[in-house]
Amino acid sequence: MNKGKISLAIIKPSAVKSGYTAPILAKIHESGFRLSAMKFIQLTVAQAEIFYSAHKGKPFYDALIAFMTSGPIVAAIIEKENAVEEYRKVMGATNPKEAAPGTLRHLFGTELPANAVHGSDSDEAATLECSFFFSAFERY
Ligand code: RTP
Ligand code: MG
Repeated sequence: MNKGKISLAIIKPSAVKSGYTAPILAKIHESGFRLSAMKFIQLTVAQAEIFYSAHKGKPFYDALIAFMTSGPIVAAIIEKENAVEEYRKVMGATNPKEAAPGTLRHLFGTELPANAVHGSDSDEAATLECSFFFSAFERY
C-alpha cells in the first residue's frame, strides 16, 4: 500500500511557552519536510477531548487534556514521502527520558505529558487530524 505524504505536527504548550517553536520548526525543515499549513491555537477542553478521544479512559487522559489546554499550541501540516513514519523518527520515543539524542523529544521535552511535540500515528489519523485543525482554504 502507498504510504501517505502528510502528518499533523503539534508543538505542545510547554514547548511554545519555553520559546522552542522556531527551533522545532527549523529541525522539521532540516529533516526534509515541507510546511503546508500552520497556526497558533489554544484548544478548549471540548476540542482536546475530541482530538484525544482514542485515549479516553487511560490513566494519563485527564492530565493530558489539562496539559494540552494549558496554553497555546502550534499546529502544522507537514509533507514528505512516508510522512507519518518519518516524522515519528524525528520526534523520538513518547517519553522524553527514553528519546534518542538529537530527537525533538530529547532536545525539547521534559517529562510526560510535556514531550514537546505530537505527530500522527497512521495515515488515517493524519488525514483526520489535519482536517480537524485546517479547512481546505488554510492548506497550501
Ligand atoms: P502523540 O500522540 O502526542 O504524538 O504521542 P505518542 O503517539 O508518542 O503517544 P500516545 O500514546 O499517543 O500518547 C499521547 C500523549 O499522552 C501523553 N502521555 N502521557 N504519563 C504517561 O504515561 C503518558 N503516556 C502518554 C504524552 O503527552 C503523549 O504524547
Ligand atoms: Mg499518539
